[in-house]
Amino acid sequence: MKKDTVVILDFGSQYNQLIARRVRECKVYSVLIPYNTPIEKIKSYNPKAIIMTGGPASVAIKGSPKADPRIFKLGVPILGICYGMQFTAYALGGKVGRSKKREYGYAELVLNRKEKFFSGFRNRERVWMSHGDKVQEMPRGFRILAHTKNSHIASMAHLERKIYGVQFHPEVIHTPKGMQVFKNFLYNICGLKPTWTMHSFIKNSINEIKQKVGNNKVVLGLSGGVDSSVAGVLLHRAIGENLHCIFVDNGLLRKYEREYVERMFKKHFHVNLHVARAENRFLKKLNGVVDPEKKRKIIGAEFIKVFEEGSKKLGNVKFLGQGTLYPDVIESVSAKGGPSATIKTHHNVGGLPKKMNLKLVEPLRDLFKDEVRLLGEELGLPERMIHRQPFPGPGLAVRIIGDVTKERLEILRNADLIVQEEMEKYEGYRNIWQSFAVLLPVKSVGVMGDERTYENVVALRIVTSQDAMTADWAKVPYDILGRISNRIINEVKGVNRVAYDISSKPPATIEWE
Ligand code: XMP
Repeated sequence: MKKDTVVILDFGSQYNQLIARRVRECKVYSVLIPYNTPIEKIKSYNPKAIIMTGGPASVAIKGSPKADPRIFKLGVPILGICYGMQFTAYALGGKVGRSKKREYGYAELVLNRKEKFFSGFRNRERVWMSHGDKVQEMPRGFRILAHTKNSHIASMAHLERKIYGVQFHPEVIHTPKGMQVFKNFLYNICGLKPTWTMHSFIKNSINEIKQKVGNNKVVLGLSGGVDSSVAGVLLHRAIGENLHCIFVDNGLLRKYEREYVERMFKKHFHVNLHVARAENRFLKKLNGVVDPEKKRKIIGAEFIKVFEEGSKKLGNVKFLGQGTLYPDVIESVSAKGGPSATIKTHHNVGGLPKKMNLKLVEPLRDLFKDEVRLLGEELGLPERMIHRQPFPGPGLAVRIIGDVTKERLEILRNADLIVQEEMEKYEGYRNIWQSFAVLLPVKSVGVMGDERTYENVVALRIVTSQDAMTADWAKVPYDILGRISNRIINEVKGVNRVAYDISSKPPATIEWE
């Protein structure tokens, strides 16, 4: 069954992905594609509706982003948000100009008429505004649905053609009734049904994987992180024995990580799991290396080697599974106008499929992170796994400042385990993005019993963040910090001092290297 799809044209607003997610929260599938996607491509999605996002440009200015105006002739309902509404007005013969005052923040939306587009709205509702331009004259056939103090036309519509526009941002949480706007548009105006659920996703996805892969072997690099774990369980549901997971133990992992992954995937899910124990290889290559980027390069290259060797042993593998997510796939429109792919290359093991002559299977490439978590839940992965913190590919090597040795790894692992144990007991743990220990290349003087000590310093790094682009140091209660510090100093041999990192990103970064 082909799923009903809403096409979202991305004009570069910082909220664009949020719009796609809101539509999906209404259980309707959506794709986010650049505003200048050719009309033929747009048609190929067979969209049931088109939504146009906001964006930083001024529509009346030459060279500003414009979608192909033939979208208005497709006969599908259209919703323009902010810039999307201004573009609608502009493209259909209305007038858009600069506002005298830039409207930013809360505004009171007043309905001009009762329409099913605003069903569930009171006459006055709080909405979130962020715009410098506004629609001054509507195109023919449009009427005003609502206004605010500063925007005479805060929402407009051509009811017969089902073309709608809102100047405010229904996708942000600051617009309390925002979700209602999406529901009204999708269900009442477009007649869509909430059928895109994780249950249906799994069913379709399993069919697609089976069709694509046939009776061939798929190899998947399992890191123990959320994405590869969920991808692994989903692939396993689809192809069972033909899935071969390789877990590379590079010796730079957290304490008990290998055991945890083995228990979960081998014992619990009965997945074909091949553990490559490669600690010595990695440590040998890292011997004497202190430069962070060099460490990363060495670890990345060695990973590929170990992985390649492992998959060669399996013989006749045709496909490589990867836990790529939708945000990595989206060709996002940057504020400067040009489409730009925002992929952190170090997060994916680039080059592998080409080098190994493998075809890709990426069962999560349509999903946002929250959706991957829901999927994981539906697939029966334990909560602790689904809500795991991110862990960098180069592992503890970038958390040991300076030379990475077996001894230093052991110290850091033991300290880090205490951080994990104590943090998991903390009631605010779910709001923490990452919490870990860092081993510093300095020694400090201490006193233990009657003895003078001269030992290592561990830094605690605990941050809150939405997406790792920015982060703040977490205001963890003192008693928890105190307990972590006491335990590390008492239980971890070789550490006599613990410091708390109180820097935000930017200008610092989350990791120390
Ligand atoms: P920074 O330190 O740049 O980290 O603020 C941002 C996020 O990325 C993770 N990180 C990495 N992940 N390979 C990875 O897979 C890396 O080399 C790497 N460096 C940083 C970091 O843990 C944080 O979540």
